[in-house]
Amino acid sequence: MKLFKRVMAMTMASIMVFSMAACGGSDSASTSGTNEAAPAEKEEEAAPAETEQEAAPEQAEEEAAPAENEAAPEAGGEAAAGGSGNIGVCIYKFDDAFMTTYRNALQEILEGKGYTVTFMDGKNDQAEQNNQINNFITQGVDALIINPVMTSAADQIIATVKDAGIPTVLINREPTAEQMSAYDKLVYVGCDARQSGTMQGELILDTPNKGDINGDGKVSYIMIQGDPENVDAQYRTEFSVKALTDAGMEVEELDLQRGDWDRNKGQEIAQNDLAKFGDDIEVVFCNNDDMAIGALQAIQAAGRTVNEDIYLVGVDALDAALNEVASGNMTGTVLNDANGQAAGAVDAMEALLGGKTYAAGEQSIYVDYVKVTPDNVADFQ
Ligand code: GAL
Repeated sequence: MKLFKRVMAMTMASIMVFSMAACGGSDSASTSGTNEAAPAEKEEEAAPAETEQEAAPEQAEEEAAPAENEAAPEAGGEAAAGGSGNIGVCIYKFDDAFMTTYRNALQEILEGKGYTVTFMDGKNDQAEQNNQINNFITQGVDALIINPVMTSAADQIIATVKDAGIPTVLINREPTAEQMSAYDKLVYVGCDARQSGTMQGELILDTPNKGDINGDGKVSYIMIQGDPENVDAQYRTEFSVKALTDAGMEVEELDLQRGDWDRNKGQEIAQNDLAKFGDDIEVVFCNNDDMAIGALQAIQAAGRTVNEDIYLVGVDALDAALNEVASGNMTGTVLNDANGQAAGAVDAMEALLGGKTYAAGEQSIYVDYVKVTPDNVADFQ
């Protein structure tokens, strides 16, 4: 069932390795190590950094201190690519459905290569994550992979890792090119959220009535938004509707509310809007699948039927959403390729450890989104 995703991830990994080699990057990116993996329970823990550090094998610390990397990048890169590096990973919060999938993929790839990995839960608190980054730096990690809590904290995070000289891969929340240009050992691996928004709009355009179920000449929708501070939420909101208007459809926004990527909030917003706007709602756009699953509960409780009297789309292709697409309870979703992004992030990290630097304007590496409909959903399950 995960085969497609795995194949995609492996393909992505090879593409990345190839393009990095072509750009004069490290030749160490495809090697993998055989050292013992870090204890599995680390992934679930949000224990203080000191405790995590104690658990890390000494060997990893000795072999690849950051100073070594700076002085002799090639040597540091070889050691790290052998899988002996010590990697710190900061996730904005563990309690996020998509980032849990992503985190598991990162853990599998990094530990599979033999790295010692420590994951920290930012608990959606930037101050807490700043402490975690500082602790990792004090511990002398070889590289950091950071999913920032706040996109607006990018400048500060970049200044901190630059100061410490730690090769860093940012994931999931994209800073601006200008912000990233401050540090050439920093790269962003993620997706272009505009693409996912456009695909959501296309999923609606692909329905028999292009979203205008009641034939009144306009598509009336509600928008359940993620965290609006996040560029993914902003772009998905904008570009899903833009795809409709670009195709000549008239649109009417009945409501737009932030659901912070959260299933319960998605359910509450949809429930309130269904009570308020009733049959006027033709389309429910959700910036992610977890909120769409919540909205589906409200839609079903209101006696409405997806793909008959209402359309529902999400993003991520969580397993639960794939099941709903397959059984016709969601109009479609968009694959947010966690495995591909995790593989890309590790490739970029290894290139950095091998001494590669990134020029300004070339610090974003994108993985494509993929539209998921009942026609192709089986490929993703
Ligand atoms: C998005 C994803 C959401 C949520 C968010 C966190 O890319 O679609 O489900 O995980 O990232 O920043």
